[in-house]
Amino acid sequence: MDVGQLKERIAEIEAGIAANVCDIDTADALRGLETAVLGKQGTLGSLVKTIKDYPPDQRGHVGKVVNDAKGRVKAVIEQRHRELEAADASADAADAEAFDPTLPGIREPMGSVHPVTAVQWEIERIFERLGFTVEAGPEMETEYNNFEALNIPATHPARDMQDTFWLKSGMVLRTHTSPVQHRAMLKFGAPLRVIVPGRCFRYETIDASHDNTFHQVEGLMIDRGISIPNLIAMAKTLLYEVMQHEVEIRVRPGYFPFVEPGIEIDMNCQICGGAGCPTCKQSGWLEILPAGMVHPNVLEAGKIDTEEFTGFAFGLGLTRLAMMKYGIGDIRVLNSGDLRPIVSPDRLGGPVIAGQVGSGTKR
Ligand code: DAH
Repeated sequence: MDVGQLKERIAEIEAGIAANVCDIDTADALRGLETAVLGKQGTLGSLVKTIKDYPPDQRGHVGKVVNDAKGRVKAVIEQRHRELEAADASADAADAEAFDPTLPGIREPMGSVHPVTAVQWEIERIFERLGFTVEAGPEMETEYNNFEALNIPATHPARDMQDTFWLKSGMVLRTHTSPVQHRAMLKFGAPLRVIVPGRCFRYETIDASHDNTFHQVEGLMIDRGISIPNLIAMAKTLLYEVMQHEVEIRVRPGYFPFVEPGIEIDMNCQICGGAGCPTCKQSGWLEILPAGMVHPNVLEAGKIDTEEFTGFAFGLGLTRLAMMKYGIGDIRVLNSGDLRPIVSPDRLGGPVIAGQVGSGTKR
């Protein structure tokens, strides 16, 4: 190839690159082109090897022609690299503009507060306003705390009142929240105002109104000069606040070994309005608040001076109260694990309600 032909060949290569470089739109493809043209085996790069084949007086000129061409092609490729980088940067900026971090996210359905929990929270707020503190106790209890400390000795017939889950260790699943009375007396002494919401367990045959796991709220108030009227006033306030309307109550004598006298406070059935239905066993009344004046033996076991102090105690059936409040006729749905709401979530209140899970059918 003489010098004239060489120049033509170079012009052709450069024209080809000029025509196509704008269509190359990735940095990788551009590097591929660079190798194909400027690399040792490349269309221009390989011409370097041929310089030595020219007569010595032409080699300087030929070398310059080839190297100038390589320089120009390199400049064209670098220019295209810069164009691609600029395009990438503005695409990133456009993406950033399209993403609006202030838009609200997509809300996951979260279910709602369990009806028993909703009533428990409400009761805690009511009693806190009355100066009570909220205590907790273990669900696995000693036999002593669950029975003896509450004036229920091993031989006492009252043990038959509660069907107990006995553990191999000799401990029990607490059959009521009353053992926390004893714990609280030892922990705080008198005067004392506590409530204890918690789960209790009984070896029961399950039906519409009995479950083996249920919730109670124990209450205990010990002070100078406490008597039955204080207890009844507290019960009325509590039921009024929970139901948000005046509730009819009646008081009957009741027997519990840990109180003397013991009473049963009933409320009129909120499901049938007192007319009689299966939930109230046609009586129109529901036992809601067994209570009484704390038995001196229980105070003494709790190291309270019985000369100076008296107290009342109650064991509110929290599960039953929740059923009343929300008109739930069957206790079994409460522990069923079925997430479809049995109560419309907006009736339950509380901070974690965000939506409802499932079909929303009422059962
Ligand atoms: N612990 C009793 C039960 O589960 C309920 C109870 C009755 C608690 C009278 C009390 C009370 O504090 O005074 O059946």
